[in-house]
Amino acid sequence: MLRKLCCVILLIIQRNTESTRVIGECRTVVQGEDVDLSCRLIERTQELKQITWLKSTKDEKHNLMLIHPNGVTGFVVPNGLAGRVQLIGNPSENLGSIRITAVRLLDEGTFTWIFNVFPSGAYNTEISLTVLVPPVVSVTVDVTPVIGEKEVILATCVAAGAKPQADVKWKTGTFGSLLKTVTNSTQHANGTTTVLSHLLGVPTRAANQQQVQCVVNQSALATDRIFNYTIDIHYPPQAVNITLSETSQTSVLCVADGNPQPNYTLSRVGQSWPGSSVRAEGGTLILLSLSSELNGLCVCEASNPYGRATGFLYVHTSCETSAACWVLLVVILCLIVAAPALLWSSPLPGIITARRNRRTG
Ligand SMILES: *[C@@H]1O[C@H](CO)[C@@H](O)[C@H](O)[C@H]1NC(C)=O
Ligand SMILES: *[C@@H]1O[C@H](CO)[C@@H](O)[C@H](O)[C@H]1NC(C)=O
Ligand SMILES: *[C@@H]1O[C@H](CO)[C@@H](O)[C@H](O)[C@H]1NC(C)=O
Ligand SMILES: *[C@@H]1O[C@H](CO)[C@@H](O)[C@H](O)[C@H]1NC(C)=O
Ligand SMILES: *[C@@H]1O[C@H](CO)[C@@H](O)[C@H](O)[C@H]1NC(C)=O
Ligand SMILES: *[C@@H]1O[C@H](CO)[C@@H](O)[C@H](O)[C@H]1NC(C)=O
Repeated sequence: MLRKLCCVILLIIQRNTESTRVIGECRTVVQGEDVDLSCRLIERTQELKQITWLKSTKDEKHNLMLIHPNGVTGFVVPNGLAGRVQLIGNPSENLGSIRITAVRLLDEGTFTWIFNVFPSGAYNTEISLTVLVPPVVSVTVDVTPVIGEKEVILATCVAAGAKPQADVKWKTGTFGSLLKTVTNSTQHANGTTTVLSHLLGVPTRAANQQQVQCVVNQSALATDRIFNYTIDIHYPPQAVNITLSETSQTSVLCVADGNPQPNYTLSRVGQSWPGSSVRAEGGTLILLSLSSELNGLCVCEASNPYGRATGFLYVHTSCETSAACWVLLVVILCLIVAAPALLWSSPLPGIITARRNRRTG
């Protein structure tokens, strides 16, 4: 019986408050944006004495601001909101609305307005504010993969410090059938989450320069974000390609495929060239004056931190018949990868006997 009576009393009280207050809706805002928290006392017949505004989080409750009927405000505890909050409502019209500019994650919580009216007392309005934090995305690789047969991490897509947790996917096209993904996430104390999505595969030369995309989707983002990434796989220089160019200047070009781009060293076996007749610029040897002084076996060594490859070129110039000189080149390709010692220990005469003259006379 007593219980029933209590319920009836409670109902009456609730009715009373319902008719006088606006129950605040829940507001969700992206960090950095502004938000208006609207609250209004519907009861107009009573006299407003003061509005108190307070904020509660799961750990604490603070009085934040006092608002007098004439619109004068007084801060009690700014609680990180100093300079970022303004009264946008008009207390004389029973409006206690506020605007928070550049919302931070710490602003999250439940805001309560207490309207003190005469004669009936206090009425509450509550608004809960949820702050979304977009992820900070980067696509990287900690250690550049080196060509090999074991599966390694080819790229990592990081969606850091997001609230709620971001959804991270890879788009890899046809190449993707050879890959797999492993996703890991870490929850931070402030409620944000960092997601790491690793793309794993065998580091082959074919995988180098393949385009992949990391697609991140999260409620603070208006649309999916796409981040392009080019897979980078390091490998030693492959076969050295030596060609003769006879455009403006006669030169010898030395090219080898390697990642990172190889360094080239051009030299002559046995003796160095006379300084005035050649100039070496990276992988190019410019023949400045064509004379028999240049004759000999020239070596081009391409190297990067993973190995080296060597190519040989037999240079023979002929100036007997006329003023014009001919350059005869015999190219012998020789591949020596990741074994510098082999170059000098291998039987060089064997290589020389393998040469062929393409042009004679
Ligand atoms: C994922 O996280 C766990 C725990 O932090 C760690 O042990 C594991 O190595 C991580 N996996 C990858 C692929 O990074
Ligand atoms: C949340 O915490 C993480 C880890 O401490 C930090 O890196 C991040 O900046 C924080 N985010 C916000 C919005 O405060
Ligand atoms: C993420 O994408 C999926 C489908 O692509 C969609 O269903 C979901 O609503 C998206 N999530 C967000 C937070 O945008
Ligand atoms: C990413 O790659 C796609 C095609 O693969 C291209 O259309 C797009 O412009 C690229 N985006 C950026 C930012 O480079
Ligand atoms: C060597 O160079 C020639 C001419 O530039 C080219 O046709 C050939 O494909 C190259 N070979 C290699 C292995 O790079
Ligand atoms: C290539 O040359 C650069 C500049 O001369 C040098 O710093 C680098 O160590 C060289 N790399 C190799 C693999 O020799």
